[in-house]
Amino acid sequence: MKNNFDEYVERRGTDSRKWSLIGMLEMAQYVDEESIPMWVADMDFRVPEFVIEKLEKRVKEQVFGYNIVGESYYESVKYWLKKKNNWSIEEEWIVPTSGVVPALCFAVKAFTEEGDGVIVQNPVYPPFRSSIELNKRTVVNSPLKLVNDRYEMDFIDLEKKFKEPKNKLFILCSPHNPVGRVWTEVELKKLVTLSIENNVIIVSDEIHSDLILFENNFTSLGTLNLKNLIVCTSISKTFNLAALKASNIIIPDESLREKFKEEMFKVGLKPVPNIFGAIATEACYTADGEKWLEDLKKYLENNYKYLKKFLDENIPNIKCMPLEGTYLAWLDLKGLNLTEEELVNKIEKEAKIVIDGGHIFGEEGKGFIRLNFACHRDVLKEALERLKKVF
Ligand SMILES: Cc1ncc(COP(=O)(O)O)c(C=O)c1O
Repeated sequence: MKNNFDEYVERRGTDSRKWSLIGMLEMAQYVDEESIPMWVADMDFRVPEFVIEKLEKRVKEQVFGYNIVGESYYESVKYWLKKKNNWSIEEEWIVPTSGVVPALCFAVKAFTEEGDGVIVQNPVYPPFRSSIELNKRTVVNSPLKLVNDRYEMDFIDLEKKFKEPKNKLFILCSPHNPVGRVWTEVELKKLVTLSIENNVIIVSDEIHSDLILFENNFTSLGTLNLKNLIVCTSISKTFNLAALKASNIIIPDESLREKFKEEMFKVGLKPVPNIFGAIATEACYTADGEKWLEDLKKYLENNYKYLKKFLDENIPNIKCMPLEGTYLAWLDLKGLNLTEEELVNKIEKEAKIVIDGGHIFGEEGKGFIRLNFACHRDVLKEALERLKKVF
């Protein structure tokens, strides 16, 4: 079947979290059915046909008792990581979980004690901090630095924080949500050195790693080092399957893997994906999946180029930060000289665009917004026209 990202998919009334706006959001009082949701990280595109076919076939079997996953499941994960990231992994390293965020919580509980520090880099995906705080550990922030409009890691600060004996874990967002950086091999090697020298475990959340745009190259941390390492992967962002709750956590070190699984067992979970997540994973991690992904990335690149050009030409006080990966644009609105309240009024009340305010990613995100452009081009155009009108 032709991949048609230009087909408009009506998501209102489908129990979509992104589109069920009323009552869902902080700014809910301004949001109504005219609002365009460009917030939470899911795409408005239909799932590939070859995935639907496999799921439908399974539905027709009409029995949904406890499932297991066999060799073909693990082979598909191994195939994908080798093909996409040139990382050869062993079957036993793979621990399926029902989502990456639960895996972050298991890792926090498995590898730290209450009161220990866990390092993150703000501005960052909020559940990094909540998985630490809700489990009574301490968030240790090593903020990213903005250097000539590009975010960089602050290695001097990181070194200090890695050396602190209380800090046992580091959660890396690779590629980084929301700033869109794809970390280079040089940067990642420095992190590996810090991790080995100070015996700090790194959880590398690589959920966005299939969505590398333009000429950028992704390096999986697993290709650089296997010690002190947890890598989180999933079909959810790449193929728009977040509701299937299917992730694979790769843990090469046996003792770390056993500790991680123990945290799962303590809450009654087995490392087995739900039946539809398993089927979708096997369907996606194939040559068909690669082809679909290539087409998706072209569409996303063109959406980003459209967005950037439009803002540069029409609202130059909104700076569209450079993007290397993900479908989440990071926009600097400080040039508009408006208060947070005035910005919300303009964007959510007047323009009726629902975005994620930068502050949710940490103090460092204030003055920015995150805009999800994984939508039909016409929807993006309409949203930008509305922004142009109010600014
Ligand atoms: C960096 C990152 N990790 C994890 C998730 C969510 O993962 P899951 O839905 O598998 O829990 C997201 C979703 O936006 C994300 O951006």
